[in-house]
Amino acid sequence: MSWMTKILQPDTAVEKMKQKAALRALEEVRDGMKLGLGTGSTARYFVDGLGAQVAEGLNVVCVPTSQATGAQAESLNIPMASLDDLQRLDLTVDGADELDAELRLVKGGGGALLREKIVAAASDKMIVIADDTKRVETLGAFDLPVEVNIFSHGATAAAIGAALMATGNAGATVLRRGQGEAPFITDGGHYIFDCALGKIKDAESLAQALLSVPGVVEHGLFLGYATAAVLAGADGLQEMGQL
Ligand code: A5P
Repeated sequence: MSWMTKILQPDTAVEKMKQKAALRALEEVRDGMKLGLGTGSTARYFVDGLGAQVAEGLNVVCVPTSQATGAQAESLNIPMASLDDLQRLDLTVDGADELDAELRLVKGGGGALLREKIVAAASDKMIVIADDTKRVETLGAFDLPVEVNIFSHGATAAAIGAALMATGNAGATVLRRGQGEAPFITDGGHYIFDCALGKIKDAESLAQALLSVPGVVEHGLFLGYATAAVLAGADGLQEMGQL
């Protein structure tokens, strides 16, 4: 497998684990597939390995979930198309900030949750790749990202707070900052509020309550999207779901 000599060479234990999870997911890619490419430090290894296989003749067409992933894929000459043209994808491979035993996820730590969810929803299968620290009993230790329209975002934050309260998930709602004090702006031109919830109660109700707030564009709860996960730890790989 000469492509293996052309991929990134991570130098820390955690980065090596992320790459191992990514390369296991890469084994599920077949010639001719339409793929969704995730965002983040773990997905980066998947895109990198995919690029090395494309250079050796693998035929795929991909939809990136962020400008950053799109730039990486372009630099590796990975063929890309728009989801408008492809409509459905065979497989998306993406990272996660948290996942539970039911393959429910919190995503959006990197700010790409909106495109990630659009792409995941258009995919027949979604494999989550992560180091095993992302596996939790109860979602919520990682602050839940909620992407909002910039217009009247202060009022939207108050309404998000009420939705959290109404579902038994009271917690601070903090505007994410980017460079310096400026608000972080997503690829879609929106802001993100990070909600400190601790342990999320009734994720399905919370998801619905957040989406019912005018001004909320999307939230980072991915419920019913992931079909499998590959978690890398010191003892090797753990697989969940149907790869
Ligand atoms: C991007 O918005 C996120 O959903 C990422 O997929 C998530 O934060 C995982 O990123 P890492 O692989 O860098 O931990």
